[in-house]
Amino acid sequence: MLEKKIAELLNDQINKELYSAYLYLDFANYFEDEGLDGFAHWYEIQAQEERDHAFMIRRYLLDSGHRVTFGAIDKPDKVFKTHLDPLLAGLEHEKYVTSLITAIYAEAFAAKDFKTMQFLDWFVKEQGEEEKNADDLIKKMKLFGSEPKGLYMLNQELAARVYSPATANE
Ligand code: FEO
Repeated sequence: MLEKKIAELLNDQINKELYSAYLYLDFANYFEDEGLDGFAHWYEIQAQEERDHAFMIRRYLLDSGHRVTFGAIDKPDKVFKTHLDPLLAGLEHEKYVTSLITAIYAEAFAAKDFKTMQFLDWFVKEQGEEEKNADDLIKKMKLFGSEPKGLYMLNQELAARVYSPATANE
């Protein structure tokens, strides 16, 4: 059994990951509306990955002998004025998620809960990758996104993203 506080934080994190999926699907809705199907596809895959993260944490809690309980998922409420706005919001969101993972890790460290630290190692690495991906996308958008041909090419590039289910064994 995990310490109660750590189990609660992990339980909350399931909600945050499902919210992340919801948020990125909302970004995809926006890009569909804008006719940028490659951007929409990229965020659909991002949403699938976030759902995977939620499932992984749920499974970890259950396998550690804890009950999982769900609360309401917040409504994504961002309004975008430019194509860059969701990308910036995505990076901000990932930084926030990194802070949450770091906080759980710190609790596990303080409790000498090495099992949870080992479980969270994958998430620490994943957050580093997600922040980098979000930042790379912003850089590309700033470089190429302001003229139609560049935006078209970027949309094509993002359309090629392939979903591969996340597992903690990567
Ligand atoms: Fe599951 Fe993008 O953090």
